[in-house]
Amino acid sequence: MKIFNKIAIIMTTLSLQTYTIQASMPAAPASAASNQSEVPNTYNGQLIDSKSIINLGPQAPQEVQQVAAQLVAQHPQLVDALLGYDSLTGDIKPLMVKAKAQLAQDGIVNKSNWNYVFALRNSPDWLVKIAGPANRDENISVLAHHVSGAPYYYGRPLAKGDADAVLLEHLSDDEFDQEIKDQKPVINKDAHKTFQTISRYAYYLAFLNAQKQHGFKHVTVPETYLVHIPGRPTDVSDRNYMVVERQITGGPVETLTHEEAEEAETAIKEIGLFQAKRDDFWKEASTGKLVLLDMEQPNNSNPRDFFHKNRAKFEGNANCGLQHFRESFKGSIQEKQDKK
Ligand SMILES: Nc1ncnc2c1ncn2[C@@H]1O[C@H](COP(=O)(O)OP(=O)(O)O)[C@@H](O)[C@H]1O
Ligand SMILES: [Mg+2]
Repeated sequence: MKIFNKIAIIMTTLSLQTYTIQASMPAAPASAASNQSEVPNTYNGQLIDSKSIINLGPQAPQEVQQVAAQLVAQHPQLVDALLGYDSLTGDIKPLMVKAKAQLAQDGIVNKSNWNYVFALRNSPDWLVKIAGPANRDENISVLAHHVSGAPYYYGRPLAKGDADAVLLEHLSDDEFDQEIKDQKPVINKDAHKTFQTISRYAYYLAFLNAQKQHGFKHVTVPETYLVHIPGRPTDVSDRNYMVVERQITGGPVETLTHEEAEEAETAIKEIGLFQAKRDDFWKEASTGKLVLLDMEQPNNSNPRDFFHKNRAKFEGNANCGLQHFRESFKGSIQEKQDKK
């Protein structure tokens, strides 16, 4: 890209800075999260963002580190296929086909339709979670929309102009890595970053914070870690980290007690969880607890808002989660015990 183009793009960026996206969520009623004076973007009083997040929360135990080591040592081609995002302006379909073929070749069962969620044979207690390219592509489309006003709607392919708008320089992942290794001045290396995988861990931390505040008795989340993928650069983004989560034994919940439902609603509101349908809650066999399984942000999240920097979007997400929850569990919530 010529320097003149870059300057023109920077000027466009500045002039459109106040442009805001219409969230595709239902409008937030005043009730959602209105009891909060602040958005839940801290853990133990520290701000959760793309720089701090790797130093927040408990350290991953040895066996979790081993999952990452095993993945890279035993499945190098799979790692490439899962993280591959060769060209942000390219077609993502071949990437998905390649990943699917490699998963099959390695005998790994993917539990997700649009992401990668799987256990390695030698580590059945842990699930690896990596965002799929379709979701990361949506993140970049939303970013381009914010920066240039390029139209955004779900599933719109990322056009060359969109990529120009976010100064991606059309580098492939490999070229991009090389520029970072060579310490070349990549014009805007943050533009390349998405936080779709990473969001699962940010929500996890926000949940732990809310749990401390509210003393939840019935609702919990699986033990979760953000783990660097050996051999990758160390900047926090979906290209370099994965989430590793304890695999729960249990199954979808049938009915909820009044107390469980009340607590689930509090958790959804407090952390701004947008997805809270029946399938997202499991009853854990050993504890009887209600486990929230899917802490991923909506894929129409702007990487620049990570984490919870856009209050309106946060409230829209919380409202969407509450609506999902109430519709999904309609008729399956028991009356309050003391009600005659
Ligand atoms: N911690 C977990 N323990 C057991 N099963 C899980 C866990 N997390 C996810 N799953 C299973 O994997 C599926 C996909 O995981 P999820 O996080 O919902 O990813 P996605 O949103 O991409 O579908 C879930 O529907 C559930 O069946
Ligand atoms: Mg899910």
